[in-house]
Amino acid sequence: MSLVDLKTDNPVLSNIYSRRSIRNFTPEPVPDEIIEEIIKAGTYAPSAVNKQPWRFVIVKNRELIHRYAEQAKKGWLKLYQGSDDPERQGLVKFMSSLKTDIFYDAPVLVLVFSSPDAFRGDIDCTLAAGNMMLAAHSMGIGSCWIGLAMALGSDPAFLEEIGVPQDYKLIAPLIFGYPEKKSPRAPARNRDVVLKWIE
Ligand SMILES: Cc1cc2nc3c(=O)[nH]c(=O)nc-3n(C[C@H](O)[C@H](O)[C@H](O)COP(=O)(O)O)c2cc1C
Repeated sequence: MSLVDLKTDNPVLSNIYSRRSIRNFTPEPVPDEIIEEIIKAGTYAPSAVNKQPWRFVIVKNRELIHRYAEQAKKGWLKLYQGSDDPERQGLVKFMSSLKTDIFYDAPVLVLVFSSPDAFRGDIDCTLAAGNMMLAAHSMGIGSCWIGLAMALGSDPAFLEEIGVPQDYKLIAPLIFGYPEKKSPRAPARNRDVVLKWIE
């Protein structure tokens, strides 16, 4: 098989190149079987010493997702409100607005936690999250990693409420749902990324 054949009509590459972060969703619920498949794809990521430390909390209750968004905003503001970093100041304004919904009214929120016995839980769970977003896209489901929700992971009351032990580490808050409209093409990527080929 030629290299051209390997590259054209390659569904894996097409899926990778066409995935976008999605921030507008239809209200249509995502079937549980699809969510289960997304989780399964996460568990097929590689992990250091094969620890497979990923643990998932799936939230499908929109009211709760909205409440968690508000809780995350409060936690984030507590950490960064006084920051002099100009880039952070823009975010402080965004996070202070009542209108800001950091989860974009998504119908599904999946929190990816690393278990305490992990060897490199942050890396493992990030790889799982990448698999999950690509798997979702391949089934017509949009996704976005919401780093702005990270404060939830260090909120003991929140962890207690969702039944996650305090020593589990939140790595990836991910939202999923059916995209409202056809997503635009992926933004051009910086192609100047290879430092050197050494032969
Ligand atoms: C670690 C991480 C944190 C992110 N946090 C947010 C976030 O809080 N809110 C958001 O809208 N997008 C967030 N994103 C999505 C990025 O903005 C997005 O991936 C980037 O702009 C590239 O666009 P693309 O995913 O469509 O290729 C995050 C992505 C990553 C990997």
